[in-house]
Amino acid sequence: MVYASSSSVYGGNKKVPFSTDDRVDNPVSLYAATKKSNELMAHCYSKLYNIPSTGLRFFTVYGPAGRPDMAYFGFTNKLLKGQIIQIYNYGNCRRDFTYVDDIVEGITRVMAMAPAKQTGEDGLPIPPYKVYNIGGGQPENLLDFVNILQEELLRAGVLPQDYDFEAHKQLVPMQPGDVPTTYADATALERDFGFTPKITLREGLRHFAQWYKEYYG
Ligand SMILES: NC(=O)c1ccc[n+]([C@@H]2O[C@H](COP(=O)([O-])OP(=O)(O)OC[C@H]3O[C@@H](n4cnc5c(N)ncnc54)[C@H](O)[C@@H]3O)[C@@H](O)[C@H]2O)c1
Repeated sequence: MVYASSSSVYGGNKKVPFSTDDRVDNPVSLYAATKKSNELMAHCYSKLYNIPSTGLRFFTVYGPAGRPDMAYFGFTNKLLKGQIIQIYNYGNCRRDFTYVDDIVEGITRVMAMAPAKQTGEDGLPIPPYKVYNIGGGQPENLLDFVNILQEELLRAGVLPQDYDFEAHKQLVPMQPGDVPTTYADATALERDFGFTPKITLREGLRHFAQWYKEYYG
């Protein structure tokens, strides 16, 4: 069983990059608590029924046909409508963005190699249970991310060349449930599956902007 967990389980952890060896019992959103619960239930099933399970903690997945409620997509919709985008924590947040194709590649590799079943000294299964981070390992400051998005939206012709970005941006305080930083230590994925996400934020946002232009016209 391969299931989606999330970088949100790291909550407000200060130590970066986030490692799967770090403590993850201080969620700052209900969403994060459900993702952690998911990992705990998977562990329980692995132990009780010897079901191999691999949880993947995704880090801010983005790309064509993405989720319209995520920042890069919502910002694009708003800018196009001439609305103002709000950038939390006055832009002092960092996100380890991961392009969707990298996520797909990671999932495909993990699906092909389930954790091995082993028996412990007590004759009962050692849970065939693993959790990995999948993240780009290159956190971007939100203001830099917004700048790259703007440039790529202009390049793809989603927005006109003379678009006044400064008039459509507002820096606002931190929101409850949000975290200041996400930053993946994905060395275990590289070690066990020979794979690290490769697509840069600029490349990924370029694909997104081109797709957006084609899809929405
Ligand atoms: N997008 C991210 O950045 C991100 C980051 C970390 C973790 N995740 C996790 O990855 C998973 C997928 O996220 P997403 O961003 O693609 O979300 P999404 O909302 O685009 O996709 C979720 C899909 O699940 C389907 N679904 C919901 N309830 C269902 C049910 N009961 N039975 C069958 N299908 C059901 C929905 O129809 C939808 O197609 C989620 O578990 C999410 O928590 C996403």
